[in-house]
Amino acid sequence: MSLVFYSLTDDAHPWREALARALPALPFHVWPDVPAPEDVRYTLVWKPPAGWHRQFPGLRAILSLGAGVDALLEDPDLPAVPITRLVDGGLARQMAEYTLHAVLHFHRRMPEYGRQQRARQWRILDPNAADDSVVGVLGLGVLGGEAARLLAVAGFPVCGWSRTPRRIAGVDCLWGDDGLAALQRRARIVVNFLPLTPATRGLLDAHFFSRLQPGACLVNVARGAHVVETDLLAALDSGQLGGAMLDVFAQEPLPVGHPFWSHPKVVLTPHVAGITLAAEAAAQVIQNLRRLEAGEAPQGLVDRAAGY
Ligand code: NAP
Ligand code: GLV
Repeated sequence: MSLVFYSLTDDAHPWREALARALPALPFHVWPDVPAPEDVRYTLVWKPPAGWHRQFPGLRAILSLGAGVDALLEDPDLPAVPITRLVDGGLARQMAEYTLHAVLHFHRRMPEYGRQQRARQWRILDPNAADDSVVGVLGLGVLGGEAARLLAVAGFPVCGWSRTPRRIAGVDCLWGDDGLAALQRRARIVVNFLPLTPATRGLLDAHFFSRLQPGACLVNVARGAHVVETDLLAALDSGQLGGAMLDVFAQEPLPVGHPFWSHPKVVLTPHVAGITLAAEAAAQVIQNLRRLEAGEAPQGLVDRAAGY
């Protein structure tokens, strides 16, 4: 029995150390150095290529190094074994920080002050009252829920949208088509925390933007494919949207010629809103491996039918 680690972006070393300490009887291999593929029982992965899991006939479970499993589920050859995802594991605090920063950026009119600075213009703009900057959080799960809570504590009016009804202190929790329409009417800043599924792909399109208040802003920390990028550019250019802070993109790394890089209304970061840190996430992975070995249900079991 062994575990194989695959990631082009995560350092295997701290994972090897943490798992060796806690589970010394489980050999840890870093792909492509896998001596006996038939002995592999578990994989710990971030974005392996399609078909990659087929080489392990004795696979019992796939453990994702991230919270979102859309890339895994897109693999038509993915074995029918349980998949676990990270449930917070240190991501929630990072994502909530990023979101608070983004909301304050738009609430305090920083994009306009940035343009004024570049034009050497000294001009005081009317401040927004906290009540004006209603934040609409799409997705009220582990990460969106935590960000919504923090924004409410910071004094922003917050509404949020989920697939099934949720209750979060200080947050007006909405669901269904009517709930989405209400969020679109009210929000000045929309923050996307949805998982990428067939139901949410392309949700942030021209129709969606047209239902927001003119000048509303978008923060996307979920997945690039939620956004129809040409529609976003058109909405920014027409003034329907006042600005966007983007951490995720349809194609990553973002191609050097992409218009987002130099768009005056776009602030972007290279998919860093929440970074998986072994120091914070390994305990959950270890606990899940123990549960799987004991035949118990792991935490963060992915519902393949729902797609998240
Ligand atoms: P989660 O706990 O599964 O929460 C997902 C939320 O979205 C839930 O509230 C769910 O509704 C809602 N939802 C799903 N499908 C929906 C639909 N069709 N309509 C309305 N609401 C829907 O996921 P999470 O742990 O918060 O993670 C969210 C996403 O963040 C991940 O999937 C990933 O893409 C992204 N992420 C990005 C980064 C980054 O660095 N940028 C880092 C980590 C994660 P219910 O409550 O009814 O289930
Ligand atoms: C990162 O994007 C994740 O899903 O954890």
